[in-house]
Amino acid sequence: MAVDQEQAAGGSVWKKLELGVCYYPEHWDESYWAEDLRRMKELGLGTVRIAEFAWNKFEPEEGKFTFEFFDRFLEYAEKAGIRVIFGTPTATPPAWLTQRYPESLNARTDGVLLGHGARRHYNYNSPKYRELTARIVEKLGEHYGQHPCIVGWQIDNELNCETAEFHSESDQRAFRSFLKEKYGTLEALNEAWGTAFWNQDYTDWDQIRTRGLTVGNSFNPHQRLDYLRFVSRSAVSFCRLQSDILRRYIKPGDFITTNGMFGHLDNHRMTEECLDTYMYDSYPDFAYALTEDPVRSADLNDRKWSRNLTEARSICPHFGIMEQQSGANGWNDRMEAPAPKPGQMMLWTMQSIAHGADYVSYFRWRTCRMGTEIYWHGILDYDSRDNRRVEELRRIRERVEKLADLAGASYVPAFGLVKSYDNNFDAEADNWHGRVQYFSETEIFCGAQLAHTPFDIVYLGAERQESELTPEKYPLLFYPHGTIVTEHEKEVLENYVRAGGTLCIGCRSGYKDECGRCVTEPMPGLLRELAGGNVREFTWVRPEEPVKMIWRGRQFAMPLFNDVLEAESARVLGTFAGSWYEGRPALLEHVYGKGRVLYLGGVFTRELVQAILEYVGAAEPWADVISAPECCELAIRRNGGQEFLFVLNYSGEPQTIVLKRQAMDVDDGIWVTGETTLKGYGTKVYRL
Ligand code: GAL
Repeated sequence: MAVDQEQAAGGSVWKKLELGVCYYPEHWDESYWAEDLRRMKELGLGTVRIAEFAWNKFEPEEGKFTFEFFDRFLEYAEKAGIRVIFGTPTATPPAWLTQRYPESLNARTDGVLLGHGARRHYNYNSPKYRELTARIVEKLGEHYGQHPCIVGWQIDNELNCETAEFHSESDQRAFRSFLKEKYGTLEALNEAWGTAFWNQDYTDWDQIRTRGLTVGNSFNPHQRLDYLRFVSRSAVSFCRLQSDILRRYIKPGDFITTNGMFGHLDNHRMTEECLDTYMYDSYPDFAYALTEDPVRSADLNDRKWSRNLTEARSICPHFGIMEQQSGANGWNDRMEAPAPKPGQMMLWTMQSIAHGADYVSYFRWRTCRMGTEIYWHGILDYDSRDNRRVEELRRIRERVEKLADLAGASYVPAFGLVKSYDNNFDAEADNWHGRVQYFSETEIFCGAQLAHTPFDIVYLGAERQESELTPEKYPLLFYPHGTIVTEHEKEVLENYVRAGGTLCIGCRSGYKDECGRCVTEPMPGLLRELAGGNVREFTWVRPEEPVKMIWRGRQFAMPLFNDVLEAESARVLGTFAGSWYEGRPALLEHVYGKGRVLYLGGVFTRELVQAILEYVGAAEPWADVISAPECCELAIRRNGGQEFLFVLNYSGEPQTIVLKRQAMDVDDGIWVTGETTLKGYGTKVYRL
């Protein structure tokens, strides 16, 4: 490993907070470079990420390598005192490559190959593509590994972005090997996939495909679950192929990373196996465009990006932002986001830093003048003039310099939200599971955000995170709908509760095994003893049905899905009202070891989340430090004795906050207390 022990244990690869920018020398005449780099330096953008799509600049013909172009660019960078994150160019295979080796291409389920003209048209399993990838990465490592201005390496670009479906012939073969390794025999596979249903038994491995064209949309869900695990494993192995090579060439202290975050991919495993740090691409304005919310969560808009940042922090506690939105967004065929309003570039940068980013790199230096992304705007417009965003960047730079020693400080959570990749994958194919999971995770986020109660996402199965699952770190855990529960997970959760933690679970918990088949034990299956109760009946709830829960004299909506519970060793806290199961248990509390389990027969609305946070004493941990309106997000990062408080106003209107004890405003170094007004989209950072 090139990183030191502290980094390997989840520490930061950055010694101080840094800013950077994405740059594409291949898009601009050489006459631009010196001035561009000079201006970056002047604006405090100390690092550029380059080369991640530029395969032809290194290998214009098969086997003919040249490094002249980027050698020259690196000379300019060195002169300008700019550091470099070097990308491996495998997200965009050249036309000569896919023409000669069409097996490298990805394919649709019907076998039609995807072609040249966009990007990410390759597959992870083609032996030829892996060979050519290994060769180009080896050549880049050999040539640039010791280059003084390089500080890090980015593998590929956004693995699984644009598509996370792979159906080429190479994938078919690799899928069969994956299954042979997993099941050994076809009998075992048939059993796991429940092929007795609809006569789907396989009698020859070659009959198995990733997914064929089927009648309607239905497809064997157990096969689909294994397929998603397979896609994840393929992406990790492709990343590993590259990181193993780079490790042999890079300088001590340089890091290997990749940027994300996309579906069908166990990012925790990829980071553990291949990377020194993980980077997230943050475009908060995307959130306005998300309309598929089943309920009402669109109201948090760009603030909802904090949920993605929470997920990124779960993968890597001190992550980087490889691409931070800095302009209006759109492709030539899509329109995504308007120009950031005055203050929003600072707001989104602070949002990333508040959540744990130690490096923020903007996308991109100057808006590209050709191709699909002519409307995905960067800091500069096509004309290169100084503009409003440049002015805002100057203010960001000033603040980031004052915050430099924040690097490595940890986000302070009040509780944890538990997830697992098996459940993520299962929820995708299973609408009964997916709807409740999406609802509750969104509402837990919204409820906690509005109540100024910060939280972490914690993945079961991720070694580092499981080791941190203690009541000291997380006095409360929500695991809203852990549908698939394994013996190992059961043990992890039991140990946590036994040691004094409060675990809160919801409907549809524990009713599937690892293959995604329903269990025959009463629900919640393996979690029954821990929950101290079981499910007698269950039903989904139509939107117009006014089912409620009565708890502590209040009524809570119980939409979407209800499990009618039966207490065994637990006591009944809440009961249903407004349905044929009126008066029956809706919320149980079970004391187990030094801790307890709250078992809700429903999904978690934000009102209920807030009531639970209050009930267990986890709500508003900073109430004695600050009071702030709902529309402001609060976060604290802590480094030893040092604490930094972030206050982020997502509304366009001024907002008044009250500091209840002395805090130093990092912008002017003055200790303040009492009332302060933040401008619309304004932010403050205080040292406590
Ligand atoms: C990211 C990607 C960039 C650029 C940007 C805007 O997902 O990594 O290369 O495409 O989006 O579309």
